[in-house]
Parts: sequence; structure tokens; C-alpha cells
Amino acid sequence: MVADKPPTTRTKVAIFISGSGTNMAALLYASRLSSAPYEVVLVASNKVEAEGLQLAELEGFATFAHSHKGQSRDAHDAAMERATIEAGAEMIVLAGYMRILSDDFVARWDGRIINIHPSLLPKYKGLDTHARAIEAGDSHGGASVHLVVPELDAGEVLAQVKVAIAKGETSDTLAERVKLAEHQLYPRALADYISRDSDPTHLLNRVRTVALSLPETSERASHGARGFRVGSEKSGKFFAYFNAQHHGSEHIALLVKTSGMDEMLNLIEAQPDTYYKPAFYGASGWVGIILNRPGVDWDNVSDWLTRSWRSVAPVRLTKLQDAADMF
Ligand code: GAR
Repeated sequence: MVADKPPTTRTKVAIFISGSGTNMAALLYASRLSSAPYEVVLVASNKVEAEGLQLAELEGFATFAHSHKGQSRDAHDAAMERATIEAGAEMIVLAGYMRILSDDFVARWDGRIINIHPSLLPKYKGLDTHARAIEAGDSHGGASVHLVVPELDAGEVLAQVKVAIAKGETSDTLAERVKLAEHQLYPRALADYISRDSDPTHLLNRVRTVALSLPETSERASHGARGFRVGSEKSGKFFAYFNAQHHGSEHIALLVKTSGMDEMLNLIEAQPDTYYKPAFYGASGWVGIILNRPGVDWDNVSDWLTRSWRSVAPVRLTKLQDAADMF
């Protein structure tokens, strides 16, 4: 048997519920396994009487309940968010939380809220998913774990599980079996999602997609790291490096060119969780953007890649890009 290796740091998560909380229970118990890469620091509900709260309390987890009745969406969201931040949570896991979160809230937690939905998305967003699957004569229903974005049930699907639909099935009997499947799916999908933040292959692929979408770029190994160049094979220049725990650093990082030492040091001082001074390259004004942490701003990563590309690309290419940007 393979020994369970405890992860060195566990991501702190808050679970939001509205009802029976059986998915929450699956997540709580899974968090007690030594291999779980997350710990539950809060169970929060918009319903004071939610059954799941009692179980969470019985099991010794911190709980918070705040009714949404008579409150604006923003005011209620703000109370939930305050409790989440005070508990130290880095991610929010929706488990039968039957309230839509405001766009601002979702934007602040971009990439750090996941949800479980009882259908095989993109089919049957919204409510009455089981009845709709049965009505359509589908052979299977199921459940999906997805990232939360402002549009309802439309974020990237992280994992799915199928559940066969029997003859004469009712939405209640199907819902029951889908929940059994959900309990298997959710803890694993959450663990995989958290681990992907520190998976060098996943991070390199994301960087590569953006870097190689810029004009005349290519990838090449450079001193044990992956490098991205612009220009010809012979005279091209590197505009980015992907470092996976390189030169003794604990970071998986993207190295890009700043305007010089001043800018680099200012960035590091202002946002030490995001930027650091890399070995060797730091001396010439390259900054490291830390990628193995929750909540990486990938738009920022993409902007840096573009900027760094511009700073070394031949004028004939930047001119073309300038012209394209005007439209
Ligand atoms: C689950 O089936 C979940 O997929 C669904 O509510 C149920 C909650 O059960 N969620 C949604 O419909 C979200 N749109 P639980 O409280 O026993 O975990």
C-alpha cells in the first residue's frame, strides 16, 4: 500500500451550505484523511436552521449562520465574506448553497470559488435538473464540479460523474443516487483543483498557451528551465522563463523583464506574495511572478508576458502589434 503523505500546507476552505449538507459532510470527513490538501476552517450558511450546521458543530468545525431574509444581496454577501476572511479561508466551496453571489463578490474570489451542480454541465443549468434530464429521455444524469463565474453554472468544469437513469425514475430517486455520486466526486475534485495550483505541468501549460500565442514566439530549454523567445531561431531573444523550484527557490514562477531594478524592487515591496527577486536574472531587472499559490491573477500574468515580449521583440513586430491594438 502506498503511504499517505500529508501535504506540507493545507489550503484553508470555507464551505457554504443552505440545507442538509450531505456534500459538506463528505468534504468534512475527507478533510480528516492525512492526504487531504485542504482543511475546513468554516461552515457558513444563509439559513440559521440548516441541518448541516448541526453536524459541523458536532464534529467540532467552526460555523457561522446569517439569514438572508430582509437583507440586500450585497449586505448578506458582505456578512458571509467577512466571516470567511476572519476564519482565514483562502477558498470558498459551495455545497448546496442556494443563493446567487453578487458579481463583485465572485470577481474578488476569482478562481477561488467552486460549486457542485446536479447535472452534466453544460446541460441543465439552474434548477429542476433531474426532472429535466428524465423528461428529455437522457440515459444519464450526474453531477459537475465547476469554477464559479458571474454567469450561473457557466464556469470551467473541473470534474463530472455520470449516474444512469432507470426506467420509471422519479426526480427524487435520481437525486438520491446523484448525491451518492457527488459525495465521491466533490472531495476529490477539490483536492485535484488545489493540487493543480502547485502542479508544474499544469502551470507550464498555462504559461505556454499565452506565451506561444504572441507573434513569432518559440520555446527552448535554457539552463534547465523552459524559455520563451521572440524572433528568428538565430537572432531571437528570450522574453520569459518558466522556473520550477529552480536554484533552490521554493517557487514555481514565471520570470519576465521589468523596466529595471527600481520597478522590480517596488513590485516586490508592494506585493511580496506575488513577486520575488529571482537568482541571477534578478540582477538585471527580471522579476519572478509566483505561480504556485491560490488565486493567481492570470490576466496579470498574461499582461506581463505581453509586456516582456514587447520589450525584446523586433520593431517590425511591435509596430504590427501596435497597429492591431488600435482596433
Ligand atoms: C446537491 O445535490 C447539489 O448538487 C445541489 O443541491 C444539493 C445539496 O445537497 N446544488 C444545487 O442545486 C446548486 N445549484 P446537500 O445539502 O445534501 O449537499
